[in-house]
Amino acid sequence: MPKVHFEGPSTGVRAVDADGGESLMQAAVRYGVTEIEARCGGALACGSCHVYLAEPWHQRVPPPSAAEREMLEYVLERRDNSRLACQIKIEGSLDGIVVHLPGAQAQ
Ligand code: FES
Repeated sequence: MPKVHFEGPSTGVRAVDADGGESLMQAAVRYGVTEIEARCGGALACGSCHVYLAEPWHQRVPPPSAAEREMLEYVLERRDNSRLACQIKIEGSLDGIVVHLPGAQAQ
């Protein structure tokens, strides 16, 4: 099982075991990572699963689709390494990925 490290500004690091094929958002919700709200359940309609991918992981995941880039326009504190966790599928090649959580999600 690929390991995912979620790092929150006030909650520290949580390492979770993701199921291959599930999204970063699904793994976060399953393990109670409350900073990822995922209000739309992965329908790419809310932006409340915003995360920052640490290097080198940001370069290793496929680039965002046009629809994800459009939704990223609405997140708070967007950065170059911003992504929506519901759009990133966990594969074995992402074992050990480090995901930083923003201090707040979009309203
Ligand atoms: Fe709503 Fe990702 S869960 S955009």
